[in-house]
Amino acid sequence: MDTFIIKGGVPLYGEVAISGAKNAVLPILAATLLTSEPCVIRRVPNLSDVHFMGRILRSLGASFSYENGMVAVHANRIKARGDYDLIRKMRGSICILGPLLARKGKANVSMPGGCIIGTRPIDLHLKGLKALSAEVKVREGYVQVEAKQLKGTEVFLGGRVGPTVLGTANIMMAATLAEGVTIIESAACEPEIVDLAHFLIAMGAKIQGAGTPRMTITGVNKLHGAEHDVIPDRIEAATYAIAAAATNGEVTLKDMRCDHLAAVLDKLKEAGVQFEAKGTSLKILSGGNIQPVDVSTQPYTGFPTDAQAQLMALMLKAPGLSIITERIFESRFMHANELARLGADIAIEGPSAIVRGGMPLSGAKVMASDLRASAALVIAGLMCEGRTQVNRIYHLDRGYEVMDKKLRSLGARVKRGKES
Ligand code: UD1
Repeated sequence: MDTFIIKGGVPLYGEVAISGAKNAVLPILAATLLTSEPCVIRRVPNLSDVHFMGRILRSLGASFSYENGMVAVHANRIKARGDYDLIRKMRGSICILGPLLARKGKANVSMPGGCIIGTRPIDLHLKGLKALSAEVKVREGYVQVEAKQLKGTEVFLGGRVGPTVLGTANIMMAATLAEGVTIIESAACEPEIVDLAHFLIAMGAKIQGAGTPRMTITGVNKLHGAEHDVIPDRIEAATYAIAAAATNGEVTLKDMRCDHLAAVLDKLKEAGVQFEAKGTSLKILSGGNIQPVDVSTQPYTGFPTDAQAQLMALMLKAPGLSIITERIFESRFMHANELARLGADIAIEGPSAIVRGGMPLSGAKVMASDLRASAALVIAGLMCEGRTQVNRIYHLDRGYEVMDKKLRSLGARVKRGKES
């Protein structure tokens, strides 16, 4: 297995281009199943999750090719039953359920497993599909959904902690081919949902209100092929912004959307990070005297759970107490124990992590447990004196395009090696 070996203590300097958003591209690739015509998606990051989704589409009978950030998919003739083991392995693949059902009248998809960041139920996805008049069964590890003709309806998709991102994506995609009008109340407002809506609209779907909690989808008989450019990855941008501040560097992030990062930038400002946001670029000027901040993760437009671990790494620098509360997923503090190996002082109290910053950090061997936890460990490794080895880097390769290369271009001493 691959590992990152980091020699820390070097400020990052220079420019880095932000890649297309992983969390936008996965549902967009699923949406290509809604049409028998070819689709072209550009600005697709070269990530293992993207190639995995490609394998799933191929296993359903579609053609999928990737070249230089461009994906061509043609789901001319597809089947309704997905490969059990493939789908089970990637949580994001649940978003093929809605499109398959809408296109084929039925779908048979393995139940996604729990994952390291906590149980991740799909009850809201199923509630939405039932509301669209699908019959839903869970049998032998498969979710089986069937509806001769989906029917538009009004459905409330808010859950225990608010809206569901992929649940909204699934119901929105299914509703594009339903008979009549569907209204989703408490829809997720994430930019990735808006991007998916733009792609669906380009395919001929009728969608209003994407990016607000109330979406209206008027069903059409057929969708056609379309082309689309994926939005920049706001979480990748947040990660590099935090890494720049954490190393007290000066980094310009290019090809990004600063408006998608408002909550993160607000917290960085409160923490004393100086930056300039201008058009599609963000320049981090200094992370000199980082101050402790308290933060709670929330659905968009709040502070994203996917940037929580990275902010925790930054708070290791801030003398005093920071309280980081995780409101979206339980057990999303796996990185805290690993950060402790580097010298961090973090106490977990229920949904909150209490970070006592300003402790001396020194490099060690640590293990990545999930995608964003890996990013936090890399940031902490860049802050440490000495050598940090981050194992299980395959988690990082799921969601960060060539992170080692991008960091090296900013002057970081990061090498990819094999786990010993
Ligand atoms: C997506 C993102 C993930 C991000 C998360 C929250 C992708 C591929 N993944 O995941 O990176 O961390 O949004 O921003 O886009 N829930 C239910 N029932 C359901 C569905 C969800 O109770 O049927 C709960 C979840 O357990 C969680 C909360 O709702 O507590 C939000 O989850 P959700 O928005 O669905 O996350 P994903 O869409 O899976």
